[in-house]
Amino acid sequence: MSAHSRSASAVLAWSRDLVQPGLRDAVDRLPPAIRRIAGYHLGWWDEHGSPATAPTGKAIRPALTLLCAESAGAAAEVALPAAVAVELAHNFSLLHDDLLDGDHKRRHRPTAWTVFGINGAILTGDALLALASDVLADSAHPSSARVLTTTVIDLVDGEHTDLAFEQYDDVSVQECEAMVERKTASLLAASCALGGIFAGGDPVTVTRLSEFGRLLGMAYQHVDDLLGIWGDPAVTGKPVHTDLASRKKSLPVVAALASGTPAGHELADWYRLDRSLGDDCLTHLARLVEEAGGRAWCESETKRLMDEALLMLSATAPAPRPAAELSALADLLVCRAS
Ligand code: FPP
Ligand code: MG
Repeated sequence: MSAHSRSASAVLAWSRDLVQPGLRDAVDRLPPAIRRIAGYHLGWWDEHGSPATAPTGKAIRPALTLLCAESAGAAAEVALPAAVAVELAHNFSLLHDDLLDGDHKRRHRPTAWTVFGINGAILTGDALLALASDVLADSAHPSSARVLTTTVIDLVDGEHTDLAFEQYDDVSVQECEAMVERKTASLLAASCALGGIFAGGDPVTVTRLSEFGRLLGMAYQHVDDLLGIWGDPAVTGKPVHTDLASRKKSLPVVAALASGTPAGHELADWYRLDRSLGDDCLTHLARLVEEAGGRAWCESETKRLMDEALLMLSATAPAPRPAAELSALADLLVCRAS
């Protein structure tokens, strides 16, 4: 950490505070019934619309936008509309993802669709996405809305492929990585690129920031998939083993299935079974993924991707303090899984 740089958790708190007024303004423009669902999902209100102190998201994407703007030589504030837009788009994707995955818990609370119904969750997600485009269209860089719309099409394609993989027996590590690139890395890439664009960075810098975000996003999904199997529910806010229960082809699972080991073959047999599996079975499946080397592979890939990401960042000749803070943020993301 450089002399004047803040810790990753201080940076995340700073980013949440900076983005909050813009997020509130945007959500306040929604019709009351949709606004209430959005505010519940964002942790501002309980299911009755009363103020709540529920856990909010970490706000990693806006922090990346603001820090990338600073690393490209501008004040963080110039990129606030972009930071608000990426957080809105991220929350659109979470609302829909929880529904598509049938997940009951997010951020330690019942998911919005379980509280307000399927229709409410779909429509609120749609509204958040429209707000994200509005915020960019109203900003000093209206053409940046195209960055977001292109990214959303990647997200949709990645999500569709992720769900389709649940039905396939053979998914290669390469196919899984290509899916993750669209499902997760594309929005982190856009978050970083938008920071560069709003800072007035040159095209080469913007492209490198985008690549930095893509590599970080790839690493982030490796961590998320590790947490999906071995994460502590008290920390993740989600029940353990849901990915295994729904036969998700997550990165450690696909690596285990492709390992050619006895544990990998046994895992494949379990994955082909078309019935729900109890807790003991799921714990056994987690052990098989580990025995087959899926966990160790995923951990070492995370580290490799993070190292590559930081090399890419240094190629942008970033301002030292934001660069140190981006690096601290990257460390925090990796530490979540260890
Ligand atoms: C957790 O983010 C989310 C991910 C790692 C991305 C998963 C990908 C999707 C949900 C894409 C879905 C796409 C569509 C179109 C439905 P986080 O840990 O930053 O969450 P937080 O905001 O709660 O901190
Ligand atoms: Mg999903």
